[in-house]
Order: sequence, then C-alpha cells, then structure tokens
Amino acid sequence: MSRFFSSAYRDMQAYVPGEQPRDRRYVKLNTNESPFPPSPAVIAAYDSEKGNVNLYSDPTAKALVEAAAEVYGRESRRLGGGDITPDMVIAGNGSDEILAFCVTAFFRDGGAAFPKVGYGFYPVFCNLFGVPFDEVPMKGEFEVDIAALAASPCNIMIANPNAQTGVYVPLSDIETLLSANKDRLVLVDEAYCDFGGESAVSLLARYDNLIVVTTLSKSRQLAGGRVGLAFARPEITEDLNKIKYSFNPYNLDRAAIAAGAAALLDTEYFDRTRKAVAQERERLKDSLGGLGFVVSPSLANFVLARRDGLSGEELYLALKERGVLVRYLGGDLSDYIRITVGSRAECDALVAAIKKIVKEKNI
Ligand SMILES: Cc1ncc(COP(=O)(O)O)c(C=O)c1O
Repeated sequence: MSRFFSSAYRDMQAYVPGEQPRDRRYVKLNTNESPFPPSPAVIAAYDSEKGNVNLYSDPTAKALVEAAAEVYGRESRRLGGGDITPDMVIAGNGSDEILAFCVTAFFRDGGAAFPKVGYGFYPVFCNLFGVPFDEVPMKGEFEVDIAALAASPCNIMIANPNAQTGVYVPLSDIETLLSANKDRLVLVDEAYCDFGGESAVSLLARYDNLIVVTTLSKSRQLAGGRVGLAFARPEITEDLNKIKYSFNPYNLDRAAIAAGAAALLDTEYFDRTRKAVAQERERLKDSLGGLGFVVSPSLANFVLARRDGLSGEELYLALKERGVLVRYLGGDLSDYIRITVGSRAECDALVAAIKKIVKEKNI
C-alpha cells in the first residue's frame, strides 16, 4: 500500500474474483460461465463493430436496452405483469457495475441487508461506498430466512437463485419482502434465474420499490463481454443514469452493446443452451449424491456440495491437481466446493476425478 492511499480504504477487503488461470488448461468449473460458445449471431454482432472502434459507443446503449425491454416485456406479460418499456432498463458493464450504481445511489441512507450466504460482492460494495449492512443468518443449511430479511429495516439485496447455494425462492417470497415495507428498496439479483426460476420483472407493474438486476454472463455466454441489465420504474432508472453519467457515460463498448442485443434476441439459442445446462445440473446432482455428497437443491448453473471426510479445501486442491478447477469459498462455506455445471464431458471428467480422490483417501 502506498502512503497516498485514502485512509477510508486502507482496511478495506477487496472482492477476490474466481481464478482465471493461464498456466494450463483446466476443466474450468469455478466461475459459473456457460459451457457453450456465444451463438453465431452474437459472434457476427461482435465482429460487426471491429471497424468502428475509433468512434465512441452509444451512451444510452439503445439497441441493447430496446432488445432487453422487448424480451423481458414478453417474460413479464407471460407471468401476468405489464410491459417493460426502454425507460425501465439500464445497461451496465457487467451486472457488477449496476450493483455498484444501486448501492451508491440508494443504500447510503437506509443501509442494506442481505443473506449471510450470498454474493461476496455485496459487502464489498457496501464497504466501498460507506453503506452500513446487516448479514442475515441462514435458516438451516441452504435456506434463506425470508421472514428475518422482511423484518430488517434496511434496503434488501437478494440473489435469486442464491449466489452460492443456487436455491431459488418463489416470487411470493419476493412479494413478502416488497410488501413488508414499501418505503425501502428490494434489489433482486437474477444472475442465475434463467436456469430454473421465474423473473421478478412481472412484479414491477405492482411495486415501485423493486429493482431487478441480471447479467448476460451466465445464461447468454457473454461473461467476457461484460453486459449487465437492471429493470425498474423509470424514476429509479433515471437516478441510476444520473450515477452512470457522473461516473462513466460510455460504460459499454460498441461490441458489447451489439453482442448483448444479439444475445437477447437469439431466443432459440438461449432456450436450447439454458435447458441443456439445467438437464446436466440434475445429472450432476445425481452423480454427486451417488458418491456420498450432500448437494444443494440448486436451480442455478452450479451446485454447492460437501462430503464427509473431506474438507472443501482438500477437495478443491485434489481436483485442481487433477486438472479440474472448482470454487473453494472458505469462511462459512469451508466444508463445501461450488461446482459450475459444465458440458456433459466436463461433468464426467469432474465425477471421474472425484471417484479417484474418494478411492485414494479410502473414505
Ligand atoms: C449473484 C451474482 N450477481 C452478479 C454477478 C456479476 O456478474 P457480471 O458482472 O459478470 O454481470 C455474479 C457473478 O458471478 C453473481 O454471482
């Protein structure tokens, strides 16, 4: 640390991203990326912007925002909600950026509450922006305590499905949070919703204290493209735009805007690939269960798993040695590893490696 670093940040713990190793080729099941490549339409859209990068990107990300309004409006109406208009959408450089905008825009006054097991970035953003926060203990091994969250006086951030367990809470639970106190915001982070949940966007017609955040990193093959979205009432997106235009107006590059719009509009590829991941998740749960693991009842593109006789760290290291990378989260989750649902071949390689480890340890 230099002597110039602001005293406000000297003791701050930064977020530790999952490993992105370059030293060798791993079966990479550690950061919940899609095992599928981007769709051909996305690759073409990405390429189409190559010759234009001498010009700034569109600060309103109009093509992307309009595609998101169309696709999520359809989803909202399917679930009994109303239209999503473009003024209800804001795009970010990954959903991490949008989460940061939300925390700084709305949570400084009322503070934030979130489940103790959740996305590790929530407390980091709160610390960065000086937002007091409350980590609400879980109810049992994998269950979020909705009643305790609802009782909190703070604004709420909840990943649904949960970021580490993959457990999804029904929209009726989200409504409990929204209606318990209409004077605080409820931010629902749906990074993993496409693999088995229903989006809360349909609730925007009835609740003005809701923000739904999502990402194209997991179910739309754009982790490296950095595209996130938020949906909220226009007065909320107006506030978020004020933050964005005070920080980084051209927050998405040209290729990300074009590719993001193409990914949203390629609904056939999206449906096919997300269904394949959900199917493989169920097969992976069965295989791990058969090997003596306790596996979270995940509806996301990953599972959290533990096995008696092996710590999470031991398993992570033994798998890494065999060329399979999973996520070891430590802390409250030191008994567990988090495994991204890969392709069938990747999951088979993981299971084969685990079989060998279990056999060698004689457990
Ligand atoms: C729950 C949750 N929210 C948001 C993100 C951030 O996604 P991105 O910034 O890639 O859009 C992640 C990434 O892992 C996540 O797990």
